[in-house]
Amino acid sequence: MEQKTIFSGMRPTGRLQLGNLLGALENWVKLQDEYRCFFSVADWHAMTTSYDDPSELKENTLQMVIDWLSAGLDPEKSVIFRQSDVPEHAELHLLFSMFTPLSWLERVPTYKDQIQQLREKNLATYGFLGYPLLQAADILLYRADAVPVGEDQVPHIEMTREIARRFNYLYKTDFFPEPQTLLTKIKLLPGIDGRKMSKSYRNTIEMSESPQEITKKVSQMVTDPGRIRKTDPGNPDVCTVYAFHGVFSPEEIGNVETACRRGEIGCVQCKKQLAKRLIAYLEPIYEKRKVLEGQRDYLMDILREGARKAKLVASETMEKVYDIIGFKL
Ligand code: TRP
Ligand code: SF4
Repeated sequence: MEQKTIFSGMRPTGRLQLGNLLGALENWVKLQDEYRCFFSVADWHAMTTSYDDPSELKENTLQMVIDWLSAGLDPEKSVIFRQSDVPEHAELHLLFSMFTPLSWLERVPTYKDQIQQLREKNLATYGFLGYPLLQAADILLYRADAVPVGEDQVPHIEMTREIARRFNYLYKTDFFPEPQTLLTKIKLLPGIDGRKMSKSYRNTIEMSESPQEITKKVSQMVTDPGRIRKTDPGNPDVCTVYAFHGVFSPEEIGNVETACRRGEIGCVQCKKQLAKRLIAYLEPIYEKRKVLEGQRDYLMDILREGARKAKLVASETMEKVYDIIGFKL
C-alpha cells in the first residue's frame, strides 16, 4: 500500500515553548518514520497578524527550524520547508477564494476570537479573514491524508474538508481527499506562575532553555501558597511543580504526592528533583541547538532542499487542478 501523506505547519513567532514540544513536535518526530511528511514554516500565516512589523519573520523562521531539528525532525525523512518558498500555496489559495463563501470564513470560531484577543491590531483585513483558506491550500496542495494538530486547529481542518468537497463537487472530480485530523493530546502545562502558559504573561518555559535557566525558572515556580514551613502538610493539587512532576516524573508522582501531603518533603527539595528531570529531558535539545545556531548555511540548505521537494509535488497538483477546472488551452 502507498504511504500516507502528513502535512502540518507552525507560524514562526519566536522560540517554541515546552508545550509545543510535548504537544506537537514529539508527535511529528514519531510520524516521520511511518508517513511521507511535509512540515512547513507558515510565514505567510504569521504575516496575517504581523503585517505591520515583519522584521522578525526571517529570524523567527530560522529559530523555528533550529527548534524543529533539535527536537528530532530529520530532513532526510521529512520535507521541511518555508511556505513562502513555494508560491503554489498562494496560487491554490487564490483559486479556492473564487468559490469560498464569505460566510464560511466569518463563522470559523478562531476568527472572531483572535480579533477579540489581538484588539490592538487591525485584523479586519482580507488576508486575516482568509487565514483558514490559506491553511486549506497548504494541506490540499499535498493532498494530505492527515494533519496532526492541536484542538484549537480542528475548525480549520474541518474547513479544509469542506473546501475539498466543494472543489470536488463543482468540478466533478474526486481529486482532493478529505484530510483527517490527527488530534495531538496536549499534556497541559501551566506557566511558572500557575496561570496559563503564555508569552504575554512572561511565565513560559521554552523548549531550548539552558540548564541554568531551567533551574532558575523551576525555583521561581509557584507552589502551594498555604505552606509556610516545610513540615506543613502541602496540597499538590494547587501546585505548579506538582503539575510538572506529573508530566516529567510520572512514575514518582505517587511518592511526591504522599510526601507533600505528609509534610515530609520541602518545596525546595521537590523543585530540585523536578529541575533535575527537566534538565535531563531538555539538555540534549539545548546541546543540539547550540551546534545548529552556528550552522546557518546548513539550515538554509535544508530549507532550499525542502522547498525543492515540496515544489515537485505542489507544481504537479497545480497542473492537475488547472486541468480539472478547464484552464488548459
Ligand atoms: N494555523 C496553524 C497554527 O496556528 C499553522 C498552520 C499553517 C498549519 N498551515 C497549516 C497547521 C497547515 C496544519 C496544517 O498552528
Ligand atoms: Fe508543590 Fe512539591 Fe511543595 Fe508539595 S512539596 S507544594 S508538590 S513543590
